[in-house]
Amino acid sequence: MKFFIDTADLDEIREANAMGVLDGVTTNPSLMKKAGGADFHEHIFRICEIVDGDVSAEVTAVDYDGIMEEGRTLAGIHKNVVVKVPLIMDGIKALKSFKEQGIRTNCTLCFSSTQALIAAKAGATYISPFMGRVDDISWDGLQLVEDIVEVYSNYGFETQVLAASIRHPMHVARCAQIGVDVATMPLAVISRLLKHPLTDNGLEKFLADWADYRAEGETVRP
Ligand code: G3P
Repeated sequence: MKFFIDTADLDEIREANAMGVLDGVTTNPSLMKKAGGADFHEHIFRICEIVDGDVSAEVTAVDYDGIMEEGRTLAGIHKNVVVKVPLIMDGIKALKSFKEQGIRTNCTLCFSSTQALIAAKAGATYISPFMGRVDDISWDGLQLVEDIVEVYSNYGFETQVLAASIRHPMHVARCAQIGVDVATMPLAVISRLLKHPLTDNGLEKFLADWADYRAEGETVRP
């Protein structure tokens, strides 16, 4: 399973990348607003220079021509840029055109398996089901992801399932069991994946015993 970080914050991206387990980055207009910075294209280029992996950059046009124009410009920033396209009628049309032009895409704002089905038929490289936002309205985000993985597997679609809007480590654990291709997560979730109180307690005891052993050695052992 690939790990992407879901942020546009350069420091967070550097921190996650330093762990050596980062495969890519996803951004969106809200994450860009949070990160700040003057120039969108320059910012995306800087992310591409930090991480050796796919970087999703989202179009903000909602008409076919606008999506195509923005997407072509974004794809020209760096070979790793994946054009993020909203799951709307003109977005679906654009997915097919981008595919024909060799431009990779991440179809975003997916909330149903039928949406995921049509995005795959249009040739999306990635589909992004928003798990957390489905949970937020008391539906089942995990079930959505599971349904999409099943549908894609039934027909051998090559579109990769990119679980998004991940809020906690259990989302990641269940996604791994379901077999998603990618999980994109905030830095806080990535950090929490490796935390366990028994690890911390166990290490504390090992280090205390080691200190005792060394101290005894100084008096008992030659
Ligand atoms: O990248 C899109 C998605 O991950 C958004 O997550 O937390 O805003 O629902 P969230």
